[in-house]
Amino acid sequence: MRQPMVAGNWKLNGSSESNKLLIDGIKQGLGEVKKAQVVVCPPSVYLGQVNDLIDGTEILLGVQNVSEQVSGAYTGEISVSMLGDFSCKYAILGHSERRSLYAESDELVAKKFAAVKEAHLVPIFCVGELLEEREANQTEDVVARQIDAVIDLVGISAFKDVVIAYEPVWAIGTGKTATPQQAQDVHAFIRQRLATHDAEIAQQTRILYGGSVKPSNAKEIFNMPDIDGGLIGGASLKAEDFLAICTAAN
Ligand code: PGA
Repeated sequence: MRQPMVAGNWKLNGSSESNKLLIDGIKQGLGEVKKAQVVVCPPSVYLGQVNDLIDGTEILLGVQNVSEQVSGAYTGEISVSMLGDFSCKYAILGHSERRSLYAESDELVAKKFAAVKEAHLVPIFCVGELLEEREANQTEDVVARQIDAVIDLVGISAFKDVVIAYEPVWAIGTGKTATPQQAQDVHAFIRQRLATHDAEIAQQTRILYGGSVKPSNAKEIFNMPDIDGGLIGGASLKAEDFLAICTAAN
């Protein structure tokens, strides 16, 4: 059985004050979340603050990005070993905003994946196609290429316990959501792709859907057999909405 997960990707949002309000709000409703693992991924500068705020709760901590380098002259980067100073468990990797706005290639994402695994953190590895790629019927090719780049570098055994997030780029922050069936089809494809290498890992891997998940559509999406929860952007910034999405995984 795969435990559902709902992870909030706060992106470039937050302040000491708003983070406290958000975490306090999530804590208040956490009792209603029966099944899902709840993860928050604040901007790195707030990891320490959020780490303290969630202390003693079931909420887990993740980071939105991390360097593939361990230490040295890499201005502006943060390393996996630094994350070890907080109880940070997850690292979002290969988010489409990193790929498109910061030119992260499949190869770079694969190197980051390797660094995260090496440090015994868990990647939340994002894949997904652009609108023009979907329209050109290339969704499966794109997702397969993104996954294969990582398997080529680290091998399938490194996918043990990893979380994959399927996020069609055209659905991120646009209010457009993939239909539950569209999402399910790609999730099933991803699982099948992993299964060609290792059937057990394919069965165990949690695959989250991301892209305009809201309280009103979460349940229908999470009900699909290969969808194990969500990676939530906009709706993770309001405690009430985020909690409603977390309870939709009950
Ligand atoms: P969204 O973002 O929920 O605002 O569409 C999802 C994501 O980018 O992870």
